[in-house]
Amino acid sequence: MSLTDKQRQLVSASFAQLVPVTKEATSVFYNHLWSIAPETKTMFHLEDIEQQGIKLMQTLGIAVRAIHDLNTIGPFLYDLGQRHITYGVSKDQYNLVKSALLTMIEHCLGGDFTPEVREAWDVTYNIITDLTLTAYD
Ligand code: HEM
Repeated sequence: MSLTDKQRQLVSASFAQLVPVTKEATSVFYNHLWSIAPETKTMFHLEDIEQQGIKLMQTLGIAVRAIHDLNTIGPFLYDLGQRHITYGVSKDQYNLVKSALLTMIEHCLGGDFTPEVREAWDVTYNIITDLTLTAYD
């Protein structure tokens, strides 16, 4: 699984559109996640949810800056995976978060969310998740 140069460009350019609307993006992300998987709601410290959204966006930012080769952040994602094990997150739940992420991007990009942009994020998320899940082995 790897990204084409065009997909790398699409991910970087669309991420730049998300950053200024982090608050709105966060709200769409968690509302979608909790609507498709209500059982995940109690896993989060709800009073910190805005901070949580900022952290999510920062992590996506780290990935976007490493988009030329996501393996370079393998150790960082391994550590993230280790922490997610302690949060009680199961492997299966990563697909739920993919759905929330794509919904969030679609919402924030509107007409710019083309099938190509969707596919580029889908592949990016899958690569990030594979590296994160190495902590579960
Ligand atoms: C690769 C995808 C994911 C990324 C990039 C990500 C990112 C983050 C980040 C940056 C944090 C902040 C704390 C830390 O750095 O350890 C966090 C916390 C957390 N994440 Fe994720 N996450 C991902 C997948 C998931 C999944 C699938 C779930 C399942 C529901 C989840 C649930 C949580 C929970 C419960 C916390 C702690 C919340 C709290 O203590 O209030 N994450 N995540």
